[in-house]
Amino acid sequence: MSTPPTPVFSVRDLWKVFGPKAGRVPADPELGALDAAGLRERTGCTAAVRDVSFDVRKGEVFVVMGLSGSGKSTLVRCLTRLIEPTSGAISIDGEDVMSMDAGRLRELRRHRASMVFQHFGLLPHRSVLDNVAYGLEIQGVGRAERRARAAEFVTKVGLEGMESRRPGQLSGGQQQRVGLARALAVDPEVLLFDEPFSALDPLIRRDMQEEVVRLHREEGRTMVFITHDLSEALKIGDRIALMRDGRIVQLGTPEEIVGEPADEYVRDFVRDVPREQVMTVRTAMRPARASEAETGPALAPGATVFEAIEAVARTGETARVIEDGRCLGVVDHAALLGVVAGVPGGKAVAA
Ligand SMILES: Nc1ncnc2c1ncn2[C@@H]1O[C@H](COP(=O)(O)OP(=O)(O)OP(=O)(O)O)[C@@H](O)[C@H]1O
Ligand SMILES: [Mg+2]
Repeated sequence: MSTPPTPVFSVRDLWKVFGPKAGRVPADPELGALDAAGLRERTGCTAAVRDVSFDVRKGEVFVVMGLSGSGKSTLVRCLTRLIEPTSGAISIDGEDVMSMDAGRLRELRRHRASMVFQHFGLLPHRSVLDNVAYGLEIQGVGRAERRARAAEFVTKVGLEGMESRRPGQLSGGQQQRVGLARALAVDPEVLLFDEPFSALDPLIRRDMQEEVVRLHREEGRTMVFITHDLSEALKIGDRIALMRDGRIVQLGTPEEIVGEPADEYVRDFVRDVPREQVMTVRTAMRPARASEAETGPALAPGATVFEAIEAVARTGETARVIEDGRCLGVVDHAALLGVVAGVPGGKAVAA
């Protein structure tokens, strides 16, 4: 067995408590067990992040989702100690973040993990090009080189021709692209996004979501992406951590979150999701009978139930799930509809 690669971020038993003598809360199981109102009453403290553990794997889009106030921003700011955790362990590429000195932390934030914010944080009197070059400037990269590299990233995010404009002469979506280009230009190992698109109108927002997915596909860069928008989370996340009151109530793929909600809260959260667009054919698959293994439309194991329904409707045949030339199984009409209807496993209807 090969050992799994070192995660980009590894977080264990992380707490962030705001308020007087915050450190006593994680240390005292009785206090830690109180709900938000109870804790505030007893101690005057708010536990924004409560005993959270997870790994961010290399190359994945790790989404942190939850309602307003659930602790998303606090959690992600703790990763580079923009907010100082109350207790717990954090490492990046196996290196302990909690023991980094100020210089090492600066290096971490400038070179290894760059942050993209909702309010773009652009410098109003500088051109687009100089805004994109800014991260390189504070890294000490020379003017000619940083402008050349910035120009490359301006093009990459689709702003070619706008290099000399000021941020005020751009739309919200374009400004967010500048913020994205600036974060990318320093070539960080991991990009941290704090609700970067929530101020954008829906069409531009969709463009930007597609941009992130594209950049991720092309470059395989690791991303941690905060959103309170479920459809955004499902669209771009490889895995999603769903937060509630500072805890992670479920961590899984979009398919796991929608298909196997961990509790009533999660079930309620995903109630209105169009299941056929999230669930894959694996959920509805059964072994092929001899007559079925050779004919019928072929689908990849990652195809959605929606795509399978289309294929089955078009051909009138049971669809085969094919991987590396091998038929893994088949999906029929009844099983696919079972998934849409939320029948556990999608298989009960077919049986
Ligand atoms: N500096 C602070 N002092 C005291 N409490 C804080 C501080 N920062 C955040 N909190 C509290 O911690 C909790 C989590 O806040 P956080 O900003 O992490 O939530 P969020 O999930 O990012 O919310 P939103 O979706 O609104 O951005 C909230 O109850 C908030 O009021
Ligand atoms: Mg926030």
